[in-house]
Order: sequence, then structure tokens, then C-alpha cells
Amino acid sequence: MPSTNDILAIESVKLDDENNALILLDQTLIPNETKYLKLTTQEGIWEAIYELRVRGAPAIGIAAAFGYYLAAKNILSANIRQNYSQFASETRKAKEYLASSRPTAVNLFWALDRMEKVVTDNPDLDVPALVAALKAESLAIRAEDEQVCRSLGEYGLTLLKPGMGLITHCNAGTLATARYGTATAPMYFGQAKGYGFKVFADETRPLNQGGRLTTFELQAAGIDVTLICDNMASITMKNGWVNAALVGCDRVAANGDAANKIGTSGLAILAKHYGIPFYVFAPTSTIDLNTETGDGIHIELRKPEEVTSKWYAKPMAPAGVKVYNPAFDVTDHTLITAIITENGIAYPPYEESLPKLVKR
Ligand code: MRU
Repeated sequence: MPSTNDILAIESVKLDDENNALILLDQTLIPNETKYLKLTTQEGIWEAIYELRVRGAPAIGIAAAFGYYLAAKNILSANIRQNYSQFASETRKAKEYLASSRPTAVNLFWALDRMEKVVTDNPDLDVPALVAALKAESLAIRAEDEQVCRSLGEYGLTLLKPGMGLITHCNAGTLATARYGTATAPMYFGQAKGYGFKVFADETRPLNQGGRLTTFELQAAGIDVTLICDNMASITMKNGWVNAALVGCDRVAANGDAANKIGTSGLAILAKHYGIPFYVFAPTSTIDLNTETGDGIHIELRKPEEVTSKWYAKPMAPAGVKVYNPAFDVTDHTLITAIITENGIAYPPYEESLPKLVKR
């Protein structure tokens, strides 16, 4: 059984530059197996993002940044005498391909845009120098995420008191980021200070990121964690066991509407009913001021098998039944008590508070 230090030492996404590879902890196998994948092709990286081997908005962004860099390196080695415009057009194709892997988490597009900006801002550099700059940018994206999550944890902890009962949905944990997680960061920091939080982790149907990943992380860190099915959140709140809800997000619109794993909006509605504060943890890389409201957020639809058969020895629904399987929903900004960013805590009205914290 791993310890807190072991858990926080896990690097779920890293670059193996020497071997031109992206190394990913295959999150689909947790908690039964800890297996690292060594991906050297763009197709392999695309598949890992699509299949949620790497998942969670920040981790997807980091994986895409490393993927873009590896694509650029391959383009350079295929044609060492390449000129700038050929290189810019080849890397653009790589960007578009990686961007097609998942639609909702804005970090994917944010990281790829940031990588492309290195190319578009430096038409005077030769291709080897551009590739070196892209490596530096991808490593910076990863390093910054760790600092961002640390700040989220510190700000988040100011909202909490020792002994509180907390509820979380999906996995916004260290596995989903460079380190610490977003919504879990205050849980780790509180644990280090002896806060004794009691965390309820929603199982998070249909892919069970809460049941498989959040419990795996928190239990290993010695945090008091109790697994509940998603439909048990209401009774847990009614029992008076929950003082705050802490969740991550995949995209926050300019008005504060926040897309996160399917079921988050239901949890927020319950929290409102029971008078429980509902906190969304959002690195500014997840805030999309170009999208006005949640209505503009593309919600990913996934395969029926994830609901009917993926986790079962035998199918749990009749063959051919119609299935609606949206991967995310949008929590209305009116249900969100505060949005915690690395630059401070935003309170309503979000169209005024968010732009002050998003420095680009
Ligand atoms: O489909 P997933 O597992 O990538 O969805 C992840 C979530 O919804 C997380 O809560 C979100 O990305 C924040 S991760 C810090």
C-alpha cells in the first residue's frame, strides 16, 4: 500500500526525451495495476487521451504539450533541412490531430495553443532551435501546473476548518495533474496539518474515477475517505456529514458556469438544497473567458458500453438498448459559492471577478 509521499511522488505524465516517448500512468488500470505506458507515436498519444489512460483537464493539457513537442522532434528528424513554413504547417497538423482527442477540457486546447505560439512567435529561429524552445515550453507547462495546484491547495485550505466533512466528485487529484490535484490539494495540505477531514468520494458513474482513483489516492495518503455511490450524496448531506463540496472542472465560462464530470451539477443542486458551500477548483488554464456561458461548452458524448458493460462480467442492460452517455455537465454559476484559482478566490459576480484573476 503506497503512502502520502508515494502518492504525491507519482508522475502520471512525464517526458522521456532520450527515448522520444511520453510516459503515462495508465489510469484505466488503477487501483488494480500500476502500469506505465511508453508512447512513441501520435496515434498512441491520441488513443491514450481518448481512452482516459491519461485524464483530468490539467494532465490532458500536459500530455498534449509533450505530444506536440515529440511530433515537432519527429518532424525535425525526418527532414533536418526543413524550412520554417514547412515546419509550421507540419506542426499545425499535429496540433489539430491531438486537439481532436477530447472536446470539453479547455486545457487541451490551451496547452496546444501555447505550444503553437512558440512557433508562430519565432519565425526567425531555425527548426532545431524551435524544437529546443518547444521542449522548454512543454516542460514549463508541466512545472507550472505543479505550482498552480500548490496555490489552489493553499487558497482552498483557507475556506476549510479542521474536522470538516467534505464531498468530492470524479477525480481532481494528483493523478489528474502534475502534482497535488486541484480539489484534492487542500485535502493533502490539511492532512499534513492534522486537520482530520472526513472525505466522501462519489463513485462517479460511469467510469468510476471517484471509486477507482480518488479513493486510491486519499486512502494511501491516510486521509479518512468513504466511498459512496453517486445517488448516496443526498443522504450523506442530510445526515449532516458534509460541510463543503470541493470539485474540479474542465472548462469555466466567463459567467462562472463550470463544466465538470457528469453528475457535478446534480451534486451542486443538492448542496444548495442542504445549504452546503460548493467550491470549484479551477486553474486559470481551465477558465475560458472566450466562452460566454455554459451553453457554449461542447459536452463530450461517449460510447454506450461504458454504461452497459465496461465494468461488468456480464452486460447490465439488454443488448441494443438506447444509452445517453454525456461525459460532462455544466453547473450553473448560481450554484457555485466560489471558484478557487491559483491567483486567488473568485466570488460572484464571476463575469467581474474572473477576468481580474485570469492574467494572460
Ligand atoms: O473524463 P475525465 O476523467 O477526464 O474528467 C475529469 C474531470 O471531470 C475532473 O474533475 C476535471 O478534469 C478536473 S481534474 C483536476
